[in-house]
Amino acid sequence: MPFTDSLRERIDLIVSGSETRQSALIPVLREIQNEFGYLSNESMEETARILGIPPSSVQNVATFYTMFFRKPVGEHVIWLCRTLSCALRGAEHVEHYMCERLGVKTGGTTTDGKITLMEAECLASCGTAPVMLVDDKLEENLTKEKVDRLIEGLRKG
Ligand code: FES
Repeated sequence: MPFTDSLRERIDLIVSGSETRQSALIPVLREIQNEFGYLSNESMEETARILGIPPSSVQNVATFYTMFFRKPVGEHVIWLCRTLSCALRGAEHVEHYMCERLGVKTGGTTTDGKITLMEAECLASCGTAPVMLVDDKLEENLTKEKVDRLIEGLRKG
């Protein structure tokens, strides 16, 4: 996947507004992921070349943050919280139900390419557990009925 002129221009803009090339790394990776949907090895190598930093620095950041995908994901990404408060309030049951409804294991993508199901660490909404992020929107107090509505909405949308 070659970088388009438009992507290169957006990267240049990020770099010129950053104090250091290293500090531009995360926003640049976000921009690349927005363009391609994930970060391939080739795009990380190109990022290292553009920023003039070691490829290992790019790899370390891309693998450290869960928000960066190393393989293609669905049109929508669901992040289900599996940390303590959510676990105590039934996140495991929600996860099993979602896997069944979507026909995937956690980490997988539906055959129509619409939805990827991922596990997340605490989403900072423990008081309304169990919760999940659907793309960038927080969904709280999850029940089977709510999960059904959300999945239908994503499939139709
Ligand atoms: S444990 Fe799930 S939001 Fe905090």
